[in-house]
Amino acid sequence: MAQFGDYQHQIYFAGLRGVLPKVPVDYLTLEARASAAMPAAVLNYVQGGCGEELTQRRNADAFAHWGMVPRMLVDSAKRDLTTELFGLTLPSPLFMAPVGVAGLCTQDGHGDLAAARASAETGVPLMQSTLGNDPLEDVVAACGDTPAFFQLYTPRNEELAASLVSRAEAAGYKAIVVTLDTWVTGWRPRDLNAGNFPQLRGAVLENYLTDPVFAELFGKPPRADDPAAVMLWASLFGRVLTWDDLGWLRSLTTLPIVLKGICHPDDARRAADAGMDAIYCSNHGGRQANGGIAAIDMLPDVVEAAGAVPVLFDSGVRSGTDAVKALAMGARMVGVGRPYLYGLALDGADGAAHVLKCILAEADLLMAVNGWPTLAHVRAAGVRRL
Ligand code: FNR
Repeated sequence: MAQFGDYQHQIYFAGLRGVLPKVPVDYLTLEARASAAMPAAVLNYVQGGCGEELTQRRNADAFAHWGMVPRMLVDSAKRDLTTELFGLTLPSPLFMAPVGVAGLCTQDGHGDLAAARASAETGVPLMQSTLGNDPLEDVVAACGDTPAFFQLYTPRNEELAASLVSRAEAAGYKAIVVTLDTWVTGWRPRDLNAGNFPQLRGAVLENYLTDPVFAELFGKPPRADDPAAVMLWASLFGRVLTWDDLGWLRSLTTLPIVLKGICHPDDARRAADAGMDAIYCSNHGGRQANGGIAAIDMLPDVVEAAGAVPVLFDSGVRSGTDAVKALAMGARMVGVGRPYLYGLALDGADGAAHVLKCILAEADLLMAVNGWPTLAHVRAAGVRRL
């Protein structure tokens, strides 16, 4: 059986022929190379965060104060990273976090489709953002056999929200991921200094422009280059959700519902009590609120409060080692954001797939070396705070 760690053999054997990886295998070099390659406006939007980016830095740095202890004389020659979620059997616990400007990360403007092809190739599910450069139907079709999830930015207009959700369900997405922390955009100095908010320039609005309810509200077929259509989008974008809205959200779909942005254990408990299907512990990669605690440091309390409800996690994951730590701390699945965007920027679908394969290979080899043949072993081993 092929193992994720085998990817390093491919790289070393290619090296014998003088062929080096086109995209770096480590995050620091990846980010540096992508920074040199990406247009400034896109790079600022992708790389930047809220305020002076303290939360964003903490997200990544905090992994350093969690450590793992290996076990020896265990047969970990074969590893099983298979993960169950919502009745799906997935080859690994990794997923691509929803990113509204993935579309802009490839030169052809079809980064959402490239991400979907990376998902098809790797078996790593894509959470497709409401904000995309290609319609959600086309994106899920490009995911091939790999299941995909749809991330909802809940519009203020209920019919538009219902339309987006029913389109996602009809198109074959396997869950609706409702993002709670972004009904308004956080204070992002890099974008403010550049006066750049891509959506207001008509970018990544394809799901709205192709939506029948949006077209009806607009009164004629909307176009990205029509400022009036963009202003309608802006006026409809962010519904302030409260606990009272969960029943309404549930009434929109029979798909599992995931709440994204839960960081407080009381919120996790309440979401579990409300019958939500999964809790997604994330601080949006530090893009929405500054002055916070690293997401990984909040994960253990959220996992405990969620009880039997699965917890997904993202924010600051930069490597396979980070992913394994989050799993050891109780996450059912672990999401990456910026790393795959940089892969997209450097080499499209292949670049994103390479980044995901590297993260999986590192995670798999870490499990091999540490004597953890299964994710149950990883969870049982846990982590220590340094
Ligand atoms: C995001 N994120 C995000 N989340 C979401 O629910 N819907 C979205 O459309 C977006 N858009 C978006 C754009 C960009 C450029 C980034 C970097 C992030 C947040 C994303 O899903 C995830 O929570 C973070 O990216 C995780 O942090 P890291 O891995 O980027 O540190």
